[in-house]
Amino acid sequence: MLSKAIVFVLVGGAAALDNGLAKKPQMGWNTWNTFGCNINQQTILSAAQAIKNSGLINYGYEYVVIDDCWSVKSGRDGSGNLVADPSKFPNGIKWLADQVHGLGLKIGIYSSAGTLTCASYPASLGREQQDAKLWASWGIDYLKYDNCNDAGQSSQQGNINRYTAMRDALLSTGRPILYSLCNWGVAQVWNWAAPIGNSWRMSGDITASFDTANGGCPATGSGGYLCSIMNILNKAADIATKGGPGGWNDLDMLVVGFSNLNSDEQKLHFTMWAAIKSPLIMGHDVTKQTAATIAILTNRNILDLSQGTWSVATRTYVRSNIQLWQQNSPDNVDRIVIVLNSGGSDQTLTVPFSDIFVNDSGRQAATYTVTELWTNTVTNSVKGQISVTVKRHGVWVGRFHPSGTVSTSSVSSRTTTSTTRAGGTTTTTAAGGSQTKWGQCGGIGWTGPTTCQDSTCTYSNPYYSQCL
Ligand code: GAL
Repeated sequence: MLSKAIVFVLVGGAAALDNGLAKKPQMGWNTWNTFGCNINQQTILSAAQAIKNSGLINYGYEYVVIDDCWSVKSGRDGSGNLVADPSKFPNGIKWLADQVHGLGLKIGIYSSAGTLTCASYPASLGREQQDAKLWASWGIDYLKYDNCNDAGQSSQQGNINRYTAMRDALLSTGRPILYSLCNWGVAQVWNWAAPIGNSWRMSGDITASFDTANGGCPATGSGGYLCSIMNILNKAADIATKGGPGGWNDLDMLVVGFSNLNSDEQKLHFTMWAAIKSPLIMGHDVTKQTAATIAILTNRNILDLSQGTWSVATRTYVRSNIQLWQQNSPDNVDRIVIVLNSGGSDQTLTVPFSDIFVNDSGRQAATYTVTELWTNTVTNSVKGQISVTVKRHGVWVGRFHPSGTVSTSSVSSRTTTSTTRAGGTTTTTAAGGSQTKWGQCGGIGWTGPTTCQDSTCTYSNPYYSQCL
């Protein structure tokens, strides 16, 4: 049972909701982008079965979320309870939850912090305690909570009040229910949502378009619909570090598996959603997916950017159509370097280490083993600069591991100690003392020790054989 007391941990400098959930970005599937309002219990059962049969379940995709339009549209029952539409869900939601749980998955539901949902179904403003209690009694594990029909409470304080009321209602059920806010980035949600929810949508609705501008989606600011991948990504760049364990920026659902995006575009999208640590909620029809779609969604190297111990990616620069993004390992020794090409043709470019290890002459001088994570191409003894070819609308994703001694000159005022770890001797810094623990053994499917000091993590995939 969850404690009814609200506990907070630090996320991005703010106290975060600690309901024990979303320590890593949540993963799963949602009905909306493929089915809209055209859902029924078979839609959910088939999707859950497909997530299991395809093996997606083994990679962490666990929440099956029913979006808008699941209830009787005309209103509540005589006791004021929401009612599942019997024509769509003849066996009720509790039965459905039991089936989904029986497959080893979890189930989510949807409502709005307003008088009606976005598709004009009954919603939960003023009914938070009653609705949360009902969902908990059905065995619900996840709530997506939208922002339509807000009864005029659209100021920042109005938003905080509406979303806090449901947080408290969910906590008071005693059931762990992941709380996914969906206010489309209104009132700078990333500045206040960490103590309230496990994730918060920071933009309007995504569509399967790489960068087509659409009048419905503003170039900057909140809200909108038909937002492209690059539109959302560029908005996320400014606020990436607001997310952390327990509370994440939500860049909206994945559009991997939609045929109007080519393979490079889908890989770029999946890489960036993973690296920025957005929830990874699929939106395609999982009952009709191709092997190519599954291969993207189950790439362990890329999933580790999301579910492993890497920092949230931040953007180092944008130069014309090229963007450079980076993630750090917890001990700040290894780096993920993402070179993104949003332009219309393939590009080969040389990236000097001064652009990667900015103002850090020690790391700039080091020699690295670089692994490109989509192709698993390993290049040894990389020094000074790296030459990369990045496909049109594609990414090059390199993991940099120093192969020699690194003097971290950018933090020269601290005490320097030397420690041996996998791949050679690394000189690192610790404030006033020696480092006794390197970090965590990582990777999805990892069953070995959780902490390590040198090369004690081993795994069949070479990528995981190091102490992260
Ligand atoms: C939107 C939301 C979508 C979907 C839709 C349902 O506000 O952003 O993801 O939930 O409502 O009506």
